Amino acid sequence: MGDAADAWKLPAWRSLLPAGRSDRTGGYRRFSFTLADDQCRDWFRLEAVHRGLRVETDRNGNLWAWWDPESSPEETSVVVTGSHLDSVPDGGAFDGPLGVVSAFAAMDLLVKARIEPVRPVAVVAFAEEEGGRFGMACLGSRLLTGAVTPDDARALTDADGVTLAEAMAAAGLDPEAIGPDPELVSRIDAFVELHVEQGSALAGMGAAVGVAESIWPHGRWRIDFSGRADHAGTTKLADRHDPMLPYAATVLAARTVATELGSLATFGRVAAEPGAANAISSVVHAWLDARAPDEGTLTELVSQVTAVAELSGSSHGVTVSSRCESLTPAVDFDFDLRDRVVAALAEQGIEAPVLPTGAGHDAGVLAAAVPAAMLFVRNRTGISHSPAEHAEPADCEAGVIALAAVLEELACR
Ligand code: GLV
Ligand code: MN
Ligand code: MN
Repeated sequence: MGDAADAWKLPAWRSLLPAGRSDRTGGYRRFSFTLADDQCRDWFRLEAVHRGLRVETDRNGNLWAWWDPESSPEETSVVVTGSHLDSVPDGGAFDGPLGVVSAFAAMDLLVKARIEPVRPVAVVAFAEEEGGRFGMACLGSRLLTGAVTPDDARALTDADGVTLAEAMAAAGLDPEAIGPDPELVSRIDAFVELHVEQGSALAGMGAAVGVAESIWPHGRWRIDFSGRADHAGTTKLADRHDPMLPYAATVLAARTVATELGSLATFGRVAAEPGAANAISSVVHAWLDARAPDEGTLTELVSQVTAVAELSGSSHGVTVSSRCESLTPAVDFDFDLRDRVVAALAEQGIEAPVLPTGAGHDAGVLAAAVPAAMLFVRNRTGISHSPAEHAEPADCEAGVIALAAVLEELACR
């Protein structure tokens, strides 16, 4: 393989690396309920079974590996750690998998030190965290906590029009059974997600590990520009209904408005139909990813961008419609849990700065229902959602040690 991710020699890490990796780009295409996803799920089950953990797939397609305590069988509260295994198109090796691999590795450290949990500890791999196939970010954790209705989830479609219900059925899961599990959620004492940092704040601070403070509110909106297909060589400019023009104006406006509002706006996905080089498009589908420091600013950002889309559409005879595909409110991680995590790390001599992030996570969804916390592992360049995403092996090891310390504090005392 010979890429930078290969540098971390931990067997559990190395055995996952080939799944869903594109030889052409070196990026990962681990989309839910596909062959690559199957390979990741097989890997998870193998790692769990190898450690004697009880493994199950829940009704929502999330994977769980349970370490049950030998003592305190009456203990019903549980501690959960983990992340996700799916990726964005051409994602890096670390976003998601680092949290799952580190969770297994942290358990190994505890076992080696003969530290036993007094309450069950689970490693979880949430399904469709990136929304890379069905558009809604953190789908598995949203379903678990009831943040999306089963009907809305079942109706989500991928780029080929396959519904989530159809994809789950094809993967051997029962789409009629999806939905919240309040009983399990009520038993979760703490959820701790370890994740590669998706910026370079830790690198600037000289710290290998950090603790999350908050997540910016964010979401994604699909905007459809509908015009009229026509011949590129014979249609006078004045006679065109070209949806590409209001789309382009909207992209430029998003940049201007985001700058003015101290926010972020990105068009990373666009699809033109029919996609002929010598034809005016009939429709342009575009996806706006918008993030802001507070919810009011996010609303303002999206409304200004969509207003430009509509205004520009009307001046080109193009119809514009938009709808929100997923929305995550602002998250402030549980203060008490965060303090406990920072103190547990300090006890081990780990000075972990507390920092906010603009990236979305399952921990952010869980935070609305249970005490949740996050550990970040340094990413020296800050690059993420790219094949160039990287964390040094020594920093990954530091993350495992930190997570083991946190699990010891939360589940073994
Ligand atoms: C997930 O990584 C997101 O922030 O979109
Ligand atoms: Mn991601
Ligand atoms: Mn992630």
